[in-house]
Amino acid sequence: MKGVILAGGLGTRLYPLTHATNKHLLPVYDQPMIYYPIQLLLSAGIEEILVVTGGPHAGDFIRVLNNGKSFGIKHLEYTYQEKSDGGISDALALAEDFADNGPITVILGDNTTDADISKEIKGFKDGALIFLKEVTDPQRFGVPVFSKDGKIEKIEEKPKDPKSNYAVTGLYVYDNNVFDYIKTLKPSERGQLEVTDLNNLYLEKGKLKWSLLKGFWSDAGTAESLFRTNLYWARKKGADIT
Ligand code: DAU
Repeated sequence: MKGVILAGGLGTRLYPLTHATNKHLLPVYDQPMIYYPIQLLLSAGIEEILVVTGGPHAGDFIRVLNNGKSFGIKHLEYTYQEKSDGGISDALALAEDFADNGPITVILGDNTTDADISKEIKGFKDGALIFLKEVTDPQRFGVPVFSKDGKIEKIEEKPKDPKSNYAVTGLYVYDNNVFDYIKTLKPSERGQLEVTDLNNLYLEKGKLKWSLLKGFWSDAGTAESLFRTNLYWARKKGADIT
């Protein structure tokens, strides 16, 4: 299994912090944000990683990550998303050659978690696997709509009236069909190729499975969520910040 970290976008919701560097290089307590998704992939046994980045600060990643060897990454690749806000599926399309006909684990570069996903990764066969987490603010995320017998009927992206309290986290496992499916997607109202449309495609084909993420999970794309993420990791690592 290979891993893809999506670290493009402009991080406009974090201006002025993201004027000087890419969002995924901002601090989360004592490490740049992107260290956390890297550590998650490595802990799940994934040692070949592609970083998809974009925007004006893409070169900063080389200074921070270098060739990845000091992290224990066997093979680190970078690619550049030309349309910096083209959407998560647009960014993922750039991983086709890297995937080399195999499955991929994808994580959004602003998502951090201390969950152990190694069992799910090792057990993955085909289709798509998404990870859900119960949250208090589901309207900020992709939100599953469940049928009475507990099956996902569809996923709604940032619904005003969420039908459940679960977020679709930015952690996904896809078989190699993902690249053909992305080619069929149309831009959403906000002009992006959405990951939720991609997951709904797998759902329509009866090929979407889900698992509950155990442990802490947060995105860090807003000032509040970045601050919350910093607090969590600082406390977990024993910082004296009472
Ligand atoms: O955090 C989980 C949520 O992430 C999901 O619940 C949503 O379904 C999903 O759409 C996404 O929502 P956001 O609106 O929070 O995503 P955002 O635009 O902040 O992008 C998340 C990461 O994806 C970002 O840190 C970098 C990467 N990205 C995003 C875009 C739009 C790219 O690499 N390229 C892009 O064009």
